[in-house]
Amino acid sequence: MLRTQSSGAGRFADFDLTRVPSPCFVIDEVQLRENLEVLRAVAEAGDIKILLALKAFAMWSLAPMISEHLAGTCASSLWEAQLARKHFGGELATYAPAFKASHFEAIAALSDHIVFNSPAQIDRFGAQAQAAGADVALRLNPEHSEAQIALYDPCAVGSRLGYPVSRLDTLPDAVSGLHMHNLCEQGLAPLTRTVAAVRPFLEAHKGAYDWLNLGGGHLITRHDYDRGGLIELLKELSGALGVQTYLEPGTAIGLDTTILVGEVLDVTENNGLVGITDISPTCHMPDVIEAPYRPAMLNDCGEVEVRLGGASCLSGDIIGSYCFDAPPQSGQRIAFLDQAHYTMVKMTTFNGAQLPSLAIWNSETDALRMVKQFGYDDFEGRLS
Ligand SMILES: Cc1ncc(COP(=O)(O)O)c(C=O)c1O
Repeated sequence: MLRTQSSGAGRFADFDLTRVPSPCFVIDEVQLRENLEVLRAVAEAGDIKILLALKAFAMWSLAPMISEHLAGTCASSLWEAQLARKHFGGELATYAPAFKASHFEAIAALSDHIVFNSPAQIDRFGAQAQAAGADVALRLNPEHSEAQIALYDPCAVGSRLGYPVSRLDTLPDAVSGLHMHNLCEQGLAPLTRTVAAVRPFLEAHKGAYDWLNLGGGHLITRHDYDRGGLIELLKELSGALGVQTYLEPGTAIGLDTTILVGEVLDVTENNGLVGITDISPTCHMPDVIEAPYRPAMLNDCGEVEVRLGGASCLSGDIIGSYCFDAPPQSGQRIAFLDQAHYTMVKMTTFNGAQLPSLAIWNSETDALRMVKQFGYDDFEGRLS
């Protein structure tokens, strides 16, 4: 089970939960600014370019503040690339495990860097990327696992993410950047070990690439992250390899900035108290079930334990067991902590994935009616 990285309620301890409709994500822009200031200071001291991974946090109404502090964004799809260009400033790096031919021209026109997952994808799309003015990069799979659970391990055996370093003798000529990503909510030590593992490859191909992106998963804004060590590590590495380093965290930007406010609808009894809420993990916090993990709750203390779940029909739509001073009443507000990253974005269009269209087919007449197609505006309109 993944552990929550929340450092606690922080300033939300004083927030009146009845001031917002329920359910509601509430973002503390002061905490966001503090996170961004930490990231900017690290970037300046280590000569690192830091991009926001939109897959983790894509609330574009906060884009001006984010763009003031970071070097740009990274996108995983056409829709995220469109969102990046429309609302955010700076550089845009787009990576996908495979690109769709019908989207590629638009992606290339929007992006500064395109990170491909394999030499075959570079053969297919590299020239088109360069013709559009984007530079071409390859995502390596460093074949060095650090993630605590398999669901979040891009280096798991048989992974489709990144090209295995052990299978690469030469880099494709078109390449001007290298990318890798193998961490998940981690500190400096796993990055240091990853860099050590892949360093022989990086040294062997020195001069064949101008920049190196070490992906996300770095919890740089957590109070206990060794930021001085990160600056030293990346300064040494970029100096030795003669490259510009990039990081593209998502979680570190949103860390501890957001609560998800909900309401208890009813409390019943079945081998203990069961609380039904208007927050549903399957609809609103999918990582609670997928990871799985138990989100931290505001004021989780007291003698009365209650198993909380959503009002959906899914038996497994369970948030977890939490403590209250007294059995909660219908209408009582609750809030879960640290709900910015991978929660707001995941309600249905994670990574900016296109939603499937809806068609009605008549199997007798073969008539086909397309009744709904979802576009970029549907994606953009879900967040703000
Ligand atoms: C390629 C890539 N870059 C960046 C990130 C952002 O990671 P995090 O939000 O853990 O910092 C991810 C997360 O899955 C990723 O897959």
